[in-house]
Amino acid sequence: MAVGDHTVAVIGAGKIGELMLSGLLRSGWPVGRLLATARRPIRAEELATRYGVRVVDNLTAVGEADVLAISVKPQDAGALLDEIGPKVPADKLVISLCAGLPTSFFNRRLPEGTPVVRVMTNTPALVDQAMSAISAGAHATGEHLALAEEMFTPLGATVRVPESQQDAVTALSGSGPAYFYLLVEAMVDAGILLGLPRQVAHELIVQTAIGSAVMLRDSGEHPVKLREAVTSPAGTTISAIRELENHGVRAAMLAALEAARDRARELAAQSE
Ligand SMILES: NC(=O)c1ccc[n+]([C@@H]2O[C@H](COP(=O)([O-])OP(=O)(O)OC[C@H]3O[C@@H](n4cnc5c(N)ncnc54)[C@H](OP(=O)(O)O)[C@@H]3O)[C@@H](O)[C@H]2O)c1
Repeated sequence: MAVGDHTVAVIGAGKIGELMLSGLLRSGWPVGRLLATARRPIRAEELATRYGVRVVDNLTAVGEADVLAISVKPQDAGALLDEIGPKVPADKLVISLCAGLPTSFFNRRLPEGTPVVRVMTNTPALVDQAMSAISAGAHATGEHLALAEEMFTPLGATVRVPESQQDAVTALSGSGPAYFYLLVEAMVDAGILLGLPRQVAHELIVQTAIGSAVMLRDSGEHPVKLREAVTSPAGTTISAIRELENHGVRAAMLAALEAARDRARELAAQSE
């Protein structure tokens, strides 16, 4: 089947759902094969005006779409499934974008045998540079995974992972953009401390981040090697690195990601 042969409904089109809608449209998915749902009328109107998609109620979406992409907050998923769960025909593909929620959460609330695919994407989907990790639930086949990939590939890179790794994925790439933004913010502040105008510091760091990211992706080199290439004996970089190590940046990263992983688990437990 070609791209756009299926009708996709984005259920709970907030930030991530909107990214998915806009990405699919940019990739050429026919607008007539997209539906969205929203909780507030004003949000529904916004989506319809911005993208020309038909915004319908949840049950209409369930009836009309082949693929249901659920993008509500994890804590809202239980109530949503109370509403739509019993009405979902078991041949629909359910794609969950909800952080932390296992596919078993959905399967318990959907008719027996409903295929569920879990996807953890991230906000660079807005510029077609998302990282989306895709896992099959109990009843999802290779074909379902391939369809999910077809939907997320236009938004950036995709990778298949066992579902047991999804909480770690959430901590790494789901929340990941925030860590980079925090780092950039701190480096711009440092530039200001060193006497640079904010705009210049911003430009220097953003381009340095882009250049470093492209090198990481395209050179195939280990990050240690790339860092060593900038770190000359008794030079400036090693002085900075000593301070980063003194302040426990590496340990902070390990602890931070563990906390994000634990929070993903906690959110899932609260939603049960
Ligand atoms: N933001 C990220 O960077 C990110 C990254 C990876 C994964 N995720 C996951 O993506 C999911 C969505 O996150 P988000 O940041 O996009 O949240 P969000 O902006 O709050 O979007 C969720 C949307 O769902 C709507 N909604 C809630 N219950 C509904 C219902 N019963 N029927 C119809 N619409 C309903 C909400 O309506 P209201 O506007 O009325 O609240 C809201 O617009 C979450 O599960 C999150 O874990 C997010």
